[in-house]
Amino acid sequence: MSKSYNIDVLDPLRFMARMEERQKRIEEAPAKEISSEYAVNKLAYALHPQKQFVRIQKVMERDADCKSFVLVPDAEKGTETLAYFSAGQYLTVFLDIEGMKLTRAYSISSSPKEALEGRYMLTVKYVQDGLASRYILDNWKEGDSVEVSAPEGFFEYNSLRDAETVVGVAGGSGITPFLSMAQAICDGDEEFNLILLYGSREAEHILFKEEFDSIMAKTDKVKVIHVLSHEEREGYEHGFVTADLIRKYAPETPYSVFLCGPQQMYTFVDKELEKLSLEKKYIRHELFGEMHNPKAQEDYPGGAPDTIRITVTVRDETRTVTGPANDSVLQILEKNGIRVPSRCRSGECGWCHSRLISGKVYIPKEIDGRRMADLKYGYIHPCAAFGLSDLEIEVPAAK
Ligand code: FES
Repeated sequence: MSKSYNIDVLDPLRFMARMEERQKRIEEAPAKEISSEYAVNKLAYALHPQKQFVRIQKVMERDADCKSFVLVPDAEKGTETLAYFSAGQYLTVFLDIEGMKLTRAYSISSSPKEALEGRYMLTVKYVQDGLASRYILDNWKEGDSVEVSAPEGFFEYNSLRDAETVVGVAGGSGITPFLSMAQAICDGDEEFNLILLYGSREAEHILFKEEFDSIMAKTDKVKVIHVLSHEEREGYEHGFVTADLIRKYAPETPYSVFLCGPQQMYTFVDKELEKLSLEKKYIRHELFGEMHNPKAQEDYPGGAPDTIRITVTVRDETRTVTGPANDSVLQILEKNGIRVPSRCRSGECGWCHSRLISGKVYIPKEIDGRRMADLKYGYIHPCAAFGLSDLEIEVPAAK
């Protein structure tokens, strides 16, 4: 509908006179930041902080290569409360290891309810050749202060998209987001049913057995089946998570399947899922994780030199660094002390989004999370890109 205006009110001279008055008021207004005064802005910042500073309250040793860390707000550094999250989300941890600026994403293994009480729990397991996990396991101790992101990620239950029953498939430390989900169900914060098939090598490698047993004693909405690949034991399944095993415990469709574990597990289970003919929207993967050996990918084109040179511009500073072609572009930059904004390290979140000015890269399709506009204007995600030649790129400055 078109608007009608009263022509007398639109007197340009009166309007100009008001402008003068308005300008005077602006100049006389106190020079203070307005945004922090608004309750709505305070709430938005509390829910979605750029960063959070937390103190390690407690360290729990799970096995020789795995520890849980209870994190509480570090008020001395300005974090009074912790941001809420959805069960399944992760925190990015910011690390400075001998001049290398690294980030790593770890799923939150505590319940969302505990965040409201001022606690997160992260569980870190050593991964082979894992610089960051080794550093954390060897160095983090009670009382230390740590910088983390707000909770991030999309590996969460959504009743509009997901079925009422979720079949969780976890491998190794991929169990952590499912512990958070199971606790949220137990607390009444989530309403779906969780049938969890948890693969471990042997019974002694199972993480959080007591915690899951205690949850199952309180609710029948959570059921955990342990699948041991290297041990036969009564009361446990033996082998790997196959389509038949899923049918055995979840005979009725529809259900969603959530996967979290190592890359090899995704490759194996994805093939099994094809036999179940599930709708695509019902299959969800947690981050694929950082890729370490792109040359092992079937479609790797080859032809890359062993070492590549990257000329990188951050704001108005340009540097040239080198690194092995087996490392992602992000890893090479970080190992040379250049901090690039990053979160998921799996091509999903877009935080590291950078412009490729020249050169060729290989981007494995499983972790290619670029949007149409990225493709059109030559943007890449350095965490998911491997140089096939020397490169020239422009990256955003880390905050
Ligand atoms: S860090 Fe998430 S896309 Fe690169």
